[in-house]
This record gives sequence, C-alpha cells and structure tokens, in this order.
Amino acid sequence: MKIGLVGVGKFSDDFIRLFNLHPDVEEVVLADLDENRVKRSMEKHGIKRGFASYEEMLDNAPELDSIAIFTQRHLHGPMIIEALKRGKHVYSAVPIGCTMDEIKDIVELVNKTRLIYMMGETCYYYPCAIYCREQYKKGAFGEFVYGESQYYHDICEMYDDFARSGGEHWQRVAGIPPMFYPTHSIAMTFSAIDQHALKVSCMGLRDDHSDNIYGEDKNDWQNPFSNETAIFRMSGGGVVRINEFRRVGINKPSSYITCFYGDKGAYECSVTKHTFQRGVASGERPYIEDVGGLINTIEYNEDLKNGTIDMTHDPISVKYIEGFAAIQDRERLPKTMRNTPKFSHYNSHPFLVDDFVRAVTSGKLPPNNAWDAARYMIPGLIAHESALKGGELLDIPDLGGAPEDWERITYEHKDNYEDMSKYYEVECMH
Ligand SMILES: NC(=O)c1ccc[n+]([C@@H]2O[C@H](COP(=O)([O-])OP(=O)(O)OC[C@H]3O[C@@H](n4cnc5c(N)ncnc54)[C@H](O)[C@@H]3O)[C@@H](O)[C@H]2O)c1
Repeated sequence: MKIGLVGVGKFSDDFIRLFNLHPDVEEVVLADLDENRVKRSMEKHGIKRGFASYEEMLDNAPELDSIAIFTQRHLHGPMIIEALKRGKHVYSAVPIGCTMDEIKDIVELVNKTRLIYMMGETCYYYPCAIYCREQYKKGAFGEFVYGESQYYHDICEMYDDFARSGGEHWQRVAGIPPMFYPTHSIAMTFSAIDQHALKVSCMGLRDDHSDNIYGEDKNDWQNPFSNETAIFRMSGGGVVRINEFRRVGINKPSSYITCFYGDKGAYECSVTKHTFQRGVASGERPYIEDVGGLINTIEYNEDLKNGTIDMTHDPISVKYIEGFAAIQDRERLPKTMRNTPKFSHYNSHPFLVDDFVRAVTSGKLPPNNAWDAARYMIPGLIAHESALKGGELLDIPDLGGAPEDWERITYEHKDNYEDMSKYYEVECMH
C-alpha cells in the first residue's frame, strides 16, 4: 500500500518510521502546512515526496490508497470524511471527530464504501487493557459489574503541545472540553467488556486558573471545565466511571484502569502495583495474585528484580510507560517491527500500524474501526452535554456495531502467559 501522512508534528514521527518499516507499505509521503517540518522529516526518514498541505497531497498524489491523519485533535473529522469520499482507507490519531454529525458521516461512508477506517487508540493496546480484555473473555471476572478508568494529563504539561501549531490564540483550542478527548479512558474499559454505554451523568470542575484556558468566553467550545467525571450505564447493566482531568497533580500513570470488577473476580491498580483477586462467588478459594509481571514493562520488572527501582521516592522514569510488557504479543508483529527501540505509550505504536496495514491489505475490519470509535467518542460528547446541564442523566445515541458480515482481523491468542516471557513471575498470596 501507499500511504500519505498529514500532520508532521510531534506525534507522527514514530508512525512515519513504523509505516516505513512495515514490509507491506511501499511508499510513505508527507504533508504539512509547515514546510520545515516536512523537509526535516523527509531527510530523517528518507521520504521522497512531501506536500505543502493536505489538499495539495490529495489533489496531486491520486495513487495513494491510504491516508494517515495526525493533525490537531479537533481537525480530524472533516479530513477523514474528505479522504473517504476520495476512496481512500483512513487511519487517524484520536479522536475520530468532535461532533455527532462528523461521526455519523464517517460511519455511513465506511458502511457504504467498505473502506477501512481505524482510529489510532493507543490505550487499546495498553497492557492493563489487554489483561482485562483477555481475562474477561476467558470468564475470570464473571459478569462485569463496575469499572473505573481515566486519562490524566495536566494542561500545564500541554501548553507547548497546543502552542506548537496553534498560533497566538492557542488557548482557544487548548480549552477543548476534556470529554471531547475521552477515547483513551473509555476504550480501555469498554473494549474489555465489549459493551456500549446507554446513559450518562457527568459533573465538571469549573476552572478559573490564570492561564485563561477554561471559561465560557475563553475557548472555541465555551467550555468552563478542566476536569470531567462521568458515570455510564452500560448495555450489559454494569456501571463505568470515567475521569478526564486536565488540572490534576498526578503525572504517571496517565491512562489506566484503576479497577475492573466482575461478580467473580477483580483487577485493581495503583501506580505499578497490579493485582487480580478471585472472589468468593467463583467457587474457588479466594486469593490475591500480583500480575505486575505481565502488565508492567519488561524493563521496569527487571529493574524491580535488580533492586534498582526505589519505590520510596522514584523520579518516575520512562521505564514505567515505554517498552513492551510481557502480555503484549510481540511475535504477531512483522519481524522488522518486533525489536524496534522503545516507543512511548507502552509500545502501542507498532501494533497500531500493523493492525491498520493488515486491515487495508486483507480488507478485514481492524479493532477501533468506525463503529468502535463512535462508541468510544459519542459517550464523551453526551457526557459533556450532561456536565453543562449540571449532571442531568442523558441517553446516549448508538450507531450500532460493525456489520456482522464484515470479517475481523483475528490473532491466535496465547493462552499460557508463562510462555510469553521469561520475565513473567507471579507472587501468589494464596
Ligand atoms: N496517545 C495518543 O493517542 C496521542 C498522543 C499524542 C498526540 N495524539 C494526537 O495526535 C495528533 C497530532 O498531535 P501532535 O502533538 O503531533 O500535534 P502537532 O501540533 O505537533 O502537529 C500537528 C500538525 O498538523 C499540521 N496541519 C494542520 N492542518 C493541516 C493541513 N490542512 N494540512 C497539512 N498539515 C496540517 C500542523 O501544521 C502541525 O504540524 C493530535 O490529534 C493528538 O491528539 C495522540
């Protein structure tokens, strides 16, 4: 396949490299409004063609069969729609779109054309999400009753992210409602139980900070909230609590599942402590198991074993979040991508690229396809509406699941975790 990547900012660099490394990708071309960013990246990655805008790339490179969108978060929807209308498969960074209309149009277009759309949800591939998804499927938790997940990213750490391409009025975009970027936290829990949200009640924290980002007259969404907390009623009857915080004194982890409870078993996490508990109703003798060997990065676990991590006062090194964890099946990746150096976001980037390329080359549905992405995004849009109405309980429109007759990408899941890594060691506290 030949792919045109638009938005050569900070985040896309890993992806340009990975698309280039993938054996099924013949050519990668770039486009950005900033000429220097295109030039630098072409030199760094040995790319032959670059364009001065998205529009110019679409008009002048008709042979591209796929487009990857890495522009600022609020710009994705219309760009995805334009590419689909021109017959291209589309990958976009999160989110899929920021309005109901955009999302509906994308789902309709994908349904009609059977082109691939995949949202690049990094957290779907996070070790804690894989763990809960696989264990839930195996029945270890029983029926889902309650879960909590969150994405915490203090706005002070993102000033530069918004200012980089946002011009002198960057604050007007930085103040986007937190629940308009909900897919990290939502995807982790919703994908694990394979259910969608029916209803929501959400509360917002009004923010009067002197950085002038949040407030009715201060941003393009008239958004007064830096933090939003939503409670969702799920289609299976359980409840999920989602936090999207942009003003909070926590640094790492940033996207994680705090707890995931079924009626027979439970997962809980505190920083790097991950435990599974077998409950009384399981019929087995209840126990607690430390599953950090599977979920923390391999390098972190090694350092923990060597005694080089001091949990009494730790500077939160990148080892917490960069690199593969034992539960991630590295062997399913093409050989060229298996031993790539560490990427941030728990090395989710190679999995994202490989799933999109597999979907395009096989015609099969990827995870985080248009229907999944809609079910991870629309609940956030409605949650924000609820927060503006003081927490009123609102119904969540559902665009349905992906068509049954569209075959999905599948992998052979390894059942025996002990085979997955020599680093897997369980501390059992029976
Ligand atoms: N974990 C994650 O999933 C994760 C992490 C970081 C960023 N992101 C997402 O990745 C995206 C990019 O983030 P970033 O930090 O790299 O942003 P950035 O501001 O560094 O880069 C965006 C680039 O898009 C370009 N652009 C905008 N409109 C264009 C157009 N019409 N034609 C050509 N170029 C155009 C800008 O010039 C800029 O260089 C965002 O949507 C962000 O939300 C996701």
